[in-house]
Amino acid sequence: MEVNNKIGVLIMAAGKGTRMKSSLPKVLQPMLDRAMIDYLLRSVAVNLNNIAVLVGSGGEQVEEHILKFNSEFKQNIKILWQREQLGTGHAVKCAVDWWKDLDDLIVLNGDLPLLTSQTLDNLINKFNLNKPDCAVITFIAENPGAYGRIIRENNNKIRIVEFKDANEAERGVKEVNAGCYFFTVKSLLKVIDNLKNDNAQGEYYLPDVLALMNNENMRVEAYAVSEDEMAGVNTQAELAQVSNVMRKRILEYWMGEGVRMLSPETVWISPDAELSRGVVIMPNVQIWGKSVIKENSYIGSGSILHDAIIGESCELVANVVIENSELKNFVKAGPFVYIRDNALLEDHAFAGKFVEIKNSHIGVNSKVPHLSYMGDATLGHDVNIGAGTITCNYDGEKKNKTIIGDNCFVGSDTMFVAPAQVGDNAATAAGSVITKPVPENALAVGRARQVNIDGWVKRK
Ligand code: UD1
Ligand code: CA
Repeated sequence: MEVNNKIGVLIMAAGKGTRMKSSLPKVLQPMLDRAMIDYLLRSVAVNLNNIAVLVGSGGEQVEEHILKFNSEFKQNIKILWQREQLGTGHAVKCAVDWWKDLDDLIVLNGDLPLLTSQTLDNLINKFNLNKPDCAVITFIAENPGAYGRIIRENNNKIRIVEFKDANEAERGVKEVNAGCYFFTVKSLLKVIDNLKNDNAQGEYYLPDVLALMNNENMRVEAYAVSEDEMAGVNTQAELAQVSNVMRKRILEYWMGEGVRMLSPETVWISPDAELSRGVVIMPNVQIWGKSVIKENSYIGSGSILHDAIIGESCELVANVVIENSELKNFVKAGPFVYIRDNALLEDHAFAGKFVEIKNSHIGVNSKVPHLSYMGDATLGHDVNIGAGTITCNYDGEKKNKTIIGDNCFVGSDTMFVAPAQVGDNAATAAGSVITKPVPENALAVGRARQVNIDGWVKRK
């Protein structure tokens, strides 16, 4: 679609979101692992570049969030203020200086996270083709709840009545107002000042402009879209529902790209994650943030990834938690492994049962198979770490490094009291406490010698 600079998009996000019962402004409520408003902003920003968000309640927080969004996505979304929240009609009026010189204005409720850019494009095209004074987007709600009802009069006029103001017959109508409106600016300017607040909520309702336009014999149209994209989010239950719809969309996208999932109903993937064909996702997996999983890797049950980079043909056996870390290719980990804080495991490395690896570099083909903690450590290639080995990296004040060369063999239950250094091809005896550097090719023995006291048990 061609970008039309004379179209502006005003997103209303100044409301309190009282029904959320949360101190966080409604539009910042987390949906998967992003703020709810990000989904709408991303859809809108695909083809439109003149966007403003109207903030008010919790406005500083929303403003800060939008500024971050702008820098993350190289956008230039404007912040406008509605200091007092007197209703959606009042909201649009507050922004009049921003939109009055445009040709057309799209107004969106801030709580429409499921709207896609394709649908928005289709609607813009339809509006441009028909050029009415106003087009309101509607859908047939299975359960119309508290949505504003679309009333189609005998003379083909369309108006909206809010649920709280509606009579029994009107409440029975299933066609509802989605909270998405297209206006010809010239027409909107003519009526916006005539809104009244003599209604059940004492608010200036934007939907009332339809009746005002009808009175002026302006042309008002209604465009119906699917309910799947237009759910408004007012409560925690509705947030859970739309999150689930978004979750399914993301999963379907990745399955379309060749990702195999055994039980998609239990899998959560962030909108920012990137998967590849041949990836297998077992039940109960969560993949968050900007995680990347390359071809043919296997993500076992119970694994949780946050900003993890997983190379090709890796295997996370089960219950592997990875945060801000990278696995190169053919790495195997798990079950029950925690890898965090800029850890890097090179090709064919292995982190086995009950192992924690923090801020460490594990070299090619090196193995940490059982019950170990590697913190602030650097391991060369082909190192074998015996079961129960620990880097004692914290001296009570600061973190210290352990550096282990290539081809080292570390005996079980070795304690490296960091800072510690081990040369290439060296070994440590099982149970050693290493407090001095170990030269290359040496065996370090750092344990008490065994003494046998004959007959001791019998005497006792
Ligand atoms: C609104 C519509 C209703 C429609 C529904 C669709 C009105 C009066 N009613 O109801 O017809 O069916 O959306 O989801 O518009 N906001 C402001 N300033 C305000 C008040 C609201 O910016 O003074 C913002 C809110 O932050 C929100 C949006 O406008 O993003 C809609 O407000 P909300 O209270 O959610 O309206 P609904 O009751 O859902
Ligand atoms: Ca709403």
